[in-house]
Amino acid sequence: KSLTIGLIPADGIGREVIPAARQVLEALASDVMPARLSFVDLDAGFEYFQKHGVALPEQTLAALKGDCDGALFGAVSSPSHKVAGYSSPIVGLRKKMDLYANVRPVISGAAATASGEKRAIDMLIIRENTECLYIKEEELHEGPDGKYAVAKRRISEFASRRAGEMAFSMALQRDRMRQQVAASERTWKARPKVTIVHKSNVLSVTDGLWRETVRGVYAGNAEYREGVDVEEQLVDSMVYRMFREPEAFDVVVAPNMYGDIISDGAAALVGSLGLVPSANVGDSFVVGEPVHGSAPDIAGKNIANPIAAIRSAAMLLERTGYASAALAIYRAVDKVLEAGQIRTPDLGGKSTTSDVTEAVCRLL
Ligand code: NAI
Ligand code: MG
Repeated sequence: KSLTIGLIPADGIGREVIPAARQVLEALASDVMPARLSFVDLDAGFEYFQKHGVALPEQTLAALKGDCDGALFGAVSSPSHKVAGYSSPIVGLRKKMDLYANVRPVISGAAATASGEKRAIDMLIIRENTECLYIKEEELHEGPDGKYAVAKRRISEFASRRAGEMAFSMALQRDRMRQQVAASERTWKARPKVTIVHKSNVLSVTDGLWRETVRGVYAGNAEYREGVDVEEQLVDSMVYRMFREPEAFDVVVAPNMYGDIISDGAAALVGSLGLVPSANVGDSFVVGEPVHGSAPDIAGKNIANPIAAIRSAAMLLERTGYASAALAIYRAVDKVLEAGQIRTPDLGGKSTTSDVTEAVCRLL
């Protein structure tokens, strides 16, 4: 077996954290990683655009489609002013590869609460990534009382169904992976759960269709009904509960805009941006991507936290069928964080990107 991964570091600290993730993948022992790994270096990004006039070159897309089973993307520096001919390569990649869901885990080790009890946050937020208000159909009008603007929001059965399928199948997949951890070490609830986020009490047509469709995915599949619990949460109370008792959530599935807001908010629960991974997922391809940007303020200094990128690489493995390898990486990262000696400056430490990467590799 073999697994070919496209590497697209792009800009800024992307060029430091993507090589770190590669180093960790290469350190995986063969008992957890049965496939032979190979890597393809690919271009994209704003710096590439400045030199060549294109941010996502055709060769990169062709190599991803032709040669790769998945990819890792670093970060892009987006100009704050409009630049003619430039459009974000990661947005282009999502469209061209039909990566219709953005998947973001929010993980914390067992942090003690004020009352001293152990509480581990281990949520997976699945955001539908192709429609909702972000179809950008907005119009500005002039009325008798002045200007007003109207935006269209698209919710389809098709997009809601595949987001729902992804949520329930990932809940089961997470459960299978967790079964590999000794019962005494588990900090999560026994049974997987999917929380459907909506606001159908107000937006009964659009959010109503979303809710009905995702519910229908569950009702129509015996495996989901047997293995997963389902609950619903209005988006406003979702935010409230997420800050009060984040440990109560497992998989959360939301329409595009709610998902965008919830997932950034959730990242605040676990500290530095340098810890939070994500994956852009479609039916036949996955691109792991740290949530952070290109961080020009720290680029080139070997102090960027590589953990978000390393965890994104683990998500790629999980999605391509190598759950044991993914789990090995998650656990090695958790151990380095728990030990606390080797930390980059964003977590209050003095270690370098390379120190953290090597510490993770040693545990593999
Ligand atoms: P940013 O995420 O690059 O940085 C925000 C702050 O967090 C900075 O102080 C940075 O040093 C710190 N930080 C980020 N990642 C870190 C890591 N791995 N380790 C340690 N510290 C880390 O966001 P910012 O500064 O708003 O944007 C910088 C550039 O990145 C812009 O051009 C922006 O457009 C782009 N960007 C790209 C994203 C992407 O590629 N998906 C997402 C967000 C921003
Ligand atoms: Mg966002």
